[in-house]
Amino acid sequence: MVKVVLIYGSTTGNTEALSEHVAAGLERGMAEVTVKDVAKASVEELANYDAIVFGCSTWGEGDLQDDFFDFHDAMDGISLKGKKGAVFGPGDSEDYPDSFCTAVDILKESLEEHGAEIIAENFKIDGEVEPAFEDAEAWGLKVAKAL
Ligand SMILES: Cc1cc2nc3c(=O)[nH]c(=O)nc-3n(C[C@H](O)[C@H](O)[C@H](O)COP(=O)(O)O)c2cc1C
Repeated sequence: MVKVVLIYGSTTGNTEALSEHVAAGLERGMAEVTVKDVAKASVEELANYDAIVFGCSTWGEGDLQDDFFDFHDAMDGISLKGKKGAVFGPGDSEDYPDSFCTAVDILKESLEEHGAEIIAENFKIDGEVEPAFEDAEAWGLKVAKAL
């Protein structure tokens, strides 16, 4: 089985809730999934997985979710060559039209810069997350199929 780590950063629980559904889709696609809060994850452990899925909400005006800062900084200098990657996250295009889901774009670029191959389009969820649970599972399945 292909080993996937899904690492999420979530302040009010939206990305965390989406992560469960993305993970369900990945599992439906026969991937072996480990879900981790970024606050409890280390960059070193990325080496143990074939694929990396990041889930991150956007805060401030286009910033990563708070808990992701240290992890993102720690990624400096690591190689993710040979790994596959994909990124999702919720945001709010009504209140933040100029920085809608910027965190998703930042993390996708980081994965690419470190040598990972992006295997699915960024998945951005606008506003309430509950209506997107089904789409989140479908996206997870799509990622699994691209592994
Ligand atoms: C103070 C504040 C700043 C925010 N900044 C942005 C932003 O720049 N871009 C965006 O798309 N969403 C922004 N949002 C919306 C959050 O990303 C959104 O509520 C998200 O669902 C939170 O997910 P989480 O609970 O997993 O952290 C902001 C929300 C707040 C309250």
